[in-house]
Amino acid sequence: MPEKILILDFGSQFTQLIARRVRELNVYCEIHPYNNVPALTEDVKGIILSGSPCSVRDQEHPTIDLSQYLGKLPVLGVCYGAQLIAYEHASEVTPSTIREYGRARLTEIHNSNRLLKELTLGSVVWMSHGDTIKEIPDNIEVIASTESVRVAAYKLRDQETYGIQFHPEVTHSAEGKTLLRNFVVHICECEQDWTSEQFIENTVAELQQTIGNDKVVLGLSGGVDSSVAAMLIHQAIGKNLYCIFVDNGLLRKDEFETVLDSYKHMGLNVKGVNAKDKFYAALAGISDPELKRKAIGRIFIEVFDDEAHLIEDVKWLAQGTIYPDVIESISVKGPSATIKSHHNVGGLPDYMKLKVVEPLKTLFKDEVRLVGKTLQIDETIIGRHPFPGPGLAIRILGDITPEKVHILQQVDHIFISNLKKTGLYDEVWQAGAILTPVQSVGVMGDERTYESVVALRAVTSVDGMTADWCRLPYEFLADVSSEIINKVKGVNRVVYDISSKPPATIEWE
Ligand code: XMP
Repeated sequence: MPEKILILDFGSQFTQLIARRVRELNVYCEIHPYNNVPALTEDVKGIILSGSPCSVRDQEHPTIDLSQYLGKLPVLGVCYGAQLIAYEHASEVTPSTIREYGRARLTEIHNSNRLLKELTLGSVVWMSHGDTIKEIPDNIEVIASTESVRVAAYKLRDQETYGIQFHPEVTHSAEGKTLLRNFVVHICECEQDWTSEQFIENTVAELQQTIGNDKVVLGLSGGVDSSVAAMLIHQAIGKNLYCIFVDNGLLRKDEFETVLDSYKHMGLNVKGVNAKDKFYAALAGISDPELKRKAIGRIFIEVFDDEAHLIEDVKWLAQGTIYPDVIESISVKGPSATIKSHHNVGGLPDYMKLKVVEPLKTLFKDEVRLVGKTLQIDETIIGRHPFPGPGLAIRILGDITPEKVHILQQVDHIFISNLKKTGLYDEVWQAGAILTPVQSVGVMGDERTYESVVALRAVTSVDGMTADWCRLPYEFLADVSSEIINKVKGVNRVVYDISSKPPATIEWE
């Protein structure tokens, strides 16, 4: 087992970011809800308590038995975490008198303190809190202050317990990474040896041990996650992995054939299943986006189930679940917070009676890509933009017909291939085209036309949770627009979506 840092989640929106920053230091870490933390094992090197929307002044504030950890191994409290430790040590925590949200500067730093080594005076830190630690007892030492917050960072004198009022995990905290490195590497003494190579070695060995000679079935989607999961399992058990790649008729132009081909080149034991007609039949006449998603999910399960039954004696179902899905489903927001239904198209029913194996469930998306690169998976698969499970069905507003799919595939193909041709593809996080139900008047030659409006969408993002529209060059947009209107029959107008998320979403449905 790799050594690790445990992050106790008190419900802050930034908890995942803390984990990402720790992982960037090549140190493995896990997030657990504060009220469901596994017992300490020897591989745990330190604890981080996250922030929270709650206040320690509330009667019912979330809390834990700190004596399990404090003084036994290094602990870092961030924002609420810091307030909680201070509060439990008889400090006074009061509502902030001035607004403490956004940038502040460290005006005093005890550089001799190991947590603050190499931090510079005036360094920008990012604050976001409604409470302030005011009076502190003698056994707490203030180690950094800002202009308005005296206890910006503190240490319990007799132990490696620290609290910081600001958020080192957000990029606005200029030296946040240095602080986290000081904690994780110098104070917790983690080795920084958690790399994709090590992950692959451990995971392949674990998979071999758990699966043995059993057969495993996996649904490939053409995306990064399922492809990387497949390659890892393939390394572990070879031909006993049976992959199924379903053509739902909602993929990009030529995608089924090209992706199937790359999978075969990668040595995977993969079966392509053409189920287009089943999907089109189930979608006929349905305009409501959620009903479309449900119909697609249902047919996918039917097709997958039929195929899986053809594999004699299969025991395991492999899935490309990644860490953000797991965290969302166990978040402190309570049992009602489940994985977003619309991101769960590949979920299979219990009656399949297969044991589930999810080799990527501890990884963030960028880590999955790194593992994919280390496994030498083709760049066309690893560098691929995310593509929604329901595919073009949620980019065709209104009901789906094979003709509309055909129009959108051509439009999308022109857009995406031009992004690739001009080298813009990798600068964009996700791009695609939308077929609107709007008909607009145009003029082609001497004739008036009355044809469809398509929209182009390209966004920059880190994880899809927030996104901004890409400032694609006008010349590029002009070329793509005229190529679409000239080549795609049925389209006479192209618009570009300039909405950010939030308040818009990336997909239109
Ligand atoms: P939104 O539209 O919510 O999308 O901003 C965020 C990311 O999720 C993808 N997405 C989906 N993925 N099934 C999926 O597998 C879906 O139903 C679905 N809806 C949105 C979207 O493409 C973007 O990457």
